[in-house]
Amino acid sequence: MTLLSLDSIEAAYGAAQALFGVDLSVEEGEVLALMGRNGMGKSTTIRVICRLMKHSAGAVQFNGQDMARVPSHLAARAGLGLVPEGRRVFARLTVRENLIAAARPGPWDLRKVTCLFPRLAERSGQLAGHLSGGEQQMLAIGRALMTNPRLMLLDEATEGLAPVVRQEIWIALDAVRRDSGLSLLVVDKSLAELGRVADRAVILERGRSVWSGPMADVSGDIANTYLGV
Ligand SMILES: Nc1ncnc2c1ncn2[C@@H]1O[C@H](COP(=O)(O)OP(=O)(O)OP(=O)(O)O)[C@@H](O)[C@H]1O
Ligand SMILES: [Mg+2]
Repeated sequence: MTLLSLDSIEAAYGAAQALFGVDLSVEEGEVLALMGRNGMGKSTTIRVICRLMKHSAGAVQFNGQDMARVPSHLAARAGLGLVPEGRRVFARLTVRENLIAAARPGPWDLRKVTCLFPRLAERSGQLAGHLSGGEQQMLAIGRALMTNPRLMLLDEATEGLAPVVRQEIWIALDAVRRDSGLSLLVVDKSLAELGRVADRAVILERGRSVWSGPMADVSGDIANTYLGV
């Protein structure tokens, strides 16, 4: 079943149009990589999906619902779990409080999230603001899981982290998709790391989707032309 579909999405920041025609879909249980060079519209596309920004043309369907009718504060209730760019956690709440504040009914609870990221269990009583960057990112992912989403969206979840921590996060995300069949939409710069978890990729260029296909095909000429790698 198709969980998410974007059809000819256009969107603008004031007078500056950023998206000129984005088409993509995510099937139930699928991991889609949204790729493209800097400034091509990946984060804007994620903002439109999560209702943080209105689209000016086209349609977003999620879980059988026209998302144009869903206000942003109800996006989580609709089943979208966003891990935004930058590490957004409540610095003055403890790790445990951060997780509990996000909780919605479903299979993901405090126990499962701290099993996935044992470091969060160790730091349960500490203020989130005192965690390392990697731990804060694990907490941001944990918070998204606590909402029990149908689709989790990750915007550069491992950006700026040490390689060993990046790997820890990717292993956890891979476990999440294998064990729970959760659908993911992932933006990241590392082709190698995306290659390990993603089924399919969509590539954006100047606000348009210009290529889509199996993740395994994103190499050689395609990677060279659209990603410059
Ligand atoms: N808040 C904003 N106000 C005005 N223009 C913006 C804003 N955010 C992004 N843009 C513009 O919209 C376009 C798409 O940006 P977007 O952040 O979606 O790209 P991206 O693919 O996520 O890039 P990156 O890989 O650098 O994160 C760019 O031209 C960017 O300059
Ligand atoms: Mg971005």
